[in-house]
Amino acid sequence: MTEPSAVVTFEIRDRVALVGVDHPPVNAISRDVRAGLRDAIARAAADPGVDAVVLFGVGRTFPAGADIREFGKPPASPILFEVCLAIEDGPKPVVAAVAGTALGGGCELALAAHARVASAEAKFAQPEVNLGILPGGGGTQRLPRLVGMAKAIEMNASGKPISAEEARALGLVDEIAAGDLLETAIAHAKSLVGRPLRRTRDLPVPPFDRAAAETQIAAIDERARGQISPGEAARMTLRAADLAFAEGQAAEREVFLRLVASDEAAALRHVFFAEREVAKVAKCEGVAPRPIVRVGVVGAGTMGAGIAVAFADAGYAVTVIETSEAALAAGRDRIDALWARAVASGRLTEAEKAAKLATLALSTDLAALAEADLVVEAVFDDRDVKRDLFAQLADEVRADCILATNTSYLDPNDLAEVVTHPDRFVGLHFFSPANVMRLVEVVDGAATSPETLATALAVAKRLKKLAVVVGVCEGFVGNRIWAAFRRECEFLLEDGALPEAIDAAMEGFGLAMGPFAVFDLSGLDIAWSLRKRKAATRDPNERYVAIADRLCEAGRFGRKTGAGWYAYPDGKKTVDPTVTAIVEAESAVKGIVRRAFSAAEIVDRLVAVMGREGDAILAEGIAARASDIDLVFVNGYGWPPRLGGPMFQAAKRRS
Ligand code: 3HC
Repeated sequence: MTEPSAVVTFEIRDRVALVGVDHPPVNAISRDVRAGLRDAIARAAADPGVDAVVLFGVGRTFPAGADIREFGKPPASPILFEVCLAIEDGPKPVVAAVAGTALGGGCELALAAHARVASAEAKFAQPEVNLGILPGGGGTQRLPRLVGMAKAIEMNASGKPISAEEARALGLVDEIAAGDLLETAIAHAKSLVGRPLRRTRDLPVPPFDRAAAETQIAAIDERARGQISPGEAARMTLRAADLAFAEGQAAEREVFLRLVASDEAAALRHVFFAEREVAKVAKCEGVAPRPIVRVGVVGAGTMGAGIAVAFADAGYAVTVIETSEAALAAGRDRIDALWARAVASGRLTEAEKAAKLATLALSTDLAALAEADLVVEAVFDDRDVKRDLFAQLADEVRADCILATNTSYLDPNDLAEVVTHPDRFVGLHFFSPANVMRLVEVVDGAATSPETLATALAVAKRLKKLAVVVGVCEGFVGNRIWAAFRRECEFLLEDGALPEAIDAAMEGFGLAMGPFAVFDLSGLDIAWSLRKRKAATRDPNERYVAIADRLCEAGRFGRKTGAGWYAYPDGKKTVDPTVTAIVEAESAVKGIVRRAFSAAEIVDRLVAVMGREGDAILAEGIAARASDIDLVFVNGYGWPPRLGGPMFQAAKRRS
């Protein structure tokens, strides 16, 4: 017998072997766990004092999946599907006792057991697709045998969890423990002793509608926005109906190995770990956030309304402030419209919407914020307007009320100067629409205290936002890199590429929309007025592209005026020869001989410039890690996670 494993416990209780995976924090199935499980199963099989086995997770959860840190390295024996087969093939009943989250390989271990007992709050999912792979422990072949084809395809291709109750209704769970999970599982295991073992792999796939399954898979491909893993997972699941189990297992393994080595999987793993890293903020280590209950939102324009909705949806008591009754009424209408959209899409009922509106406090008097714990300012992005407001606010709110600015371009340190106790000042830079976009740049100002920062992060978490801590510079991380990207797009125009070619290149690369289509959507006028404001102080030696100015001078502000980088006859984006002529004329004015650019060259040049700006941001300490910058683009600028973000792409091109 091999040595007992440090990560798999073994205990015999009342002739039942209790095999526990003890690999905190989430009991990820590492090589040692797999070896430990294989040995424990063999030991239980060989021991005449054991009649049955209960497999469980020590601590808070059943295994939450294979150990992702091992992906990208050569597979180490035993492989998960072999362990699953060992569990299933054994001579004695194995019952999985599932608490917490049985995810990925964890769910597959449970599928390989002869029965599953779950605690009421347990969840099951096959989230491998989110990592660019598919279940590799037999999940594509066993799941349809237990829950039916349509549900198995959905689970394997979406990665979404199901509750223990739903799992029981589907036949994935045999019993929900009313009392102690382990005791219930032990009793269940004993009840199976001496009876024929129900091996999942021997069950037939229940009859299903093949045409419906094919339609389901086509819709999955359509929704995947170029990501390959959901379709692969769905198709492999469907094959369970056509292949003998062993063949299906081998086919799954082949696709798993191909996908795990793909660029998509590497990028998605990068994003997974980036999301865990971003929450680690050195300045806040060991610092407790302050409780926040009452939140004021000053300004109920597009941003303010979205911010108010985000806070109200997260359960905060929200007071909205505007300068006049008319502005307040307009703000209330904007908020109403945002919730109306949630009603239209079925996320909210009319009654819930009415209740939310009723709890919203509205005022034109800053004194209404006297008891606020946090106030977020979302007024017009003008230095004097904001400084006046903050000076007044500091007089009206409690001395410990956290003051946050939603500014995009102003200097938060300059705004903080006018408030008493500037250590409570922080930036909360939401992205529009603020109730939808996941990103918040949390701006750590010169005076911001660790407690203020920790509180801002805790608030962002409760809002279910992805918070990235950034330092102070113009545009912070996202808009600064976006500005560099925009500048490079314009250089490319002047050098010889046309907007439609640049858009096509970036869409081919994987962005949902090319940059010029995005510029048109967000409007060209704001950037134009910013350029005009800065014209006097611009370095005359700096390369300046005037093409966008020419468009704005012609009243082409983008979609809202029916024309911008494109024309929009009947709302349909169309290449406009007028724009081509303006672009070519501007190149000629500068004496630039236009040349052709391949799509690859365009992508390389744009990615490189983003990477260089990101490097500068890191060198200045504005962001803590390159992966934080990637998260800004994935969560705030529509970069698909499967590209990993601009820093990931830039590094890949350099290596
Ligand atoms: N492998 C390795 N490490 C993992 C892991 C995994 N599968 N899942 C989580 N971790 C690590 C995290 O990196 C983090 O480490 P850190 O503290 O050093 O940063 C720690 O565990 C805690 O994770 P979270 O901060 O995410 O904790 P939460 O409590 O918020 O969430 C969770 C827990 C829901 C389990 C979440 O971590 C999660 O969704 N994990 C991924 C689950 C997954 O994708 N499983 C499938 C893996 S692929 C697979 O199984 C292939 C198989 O079919 C062959």
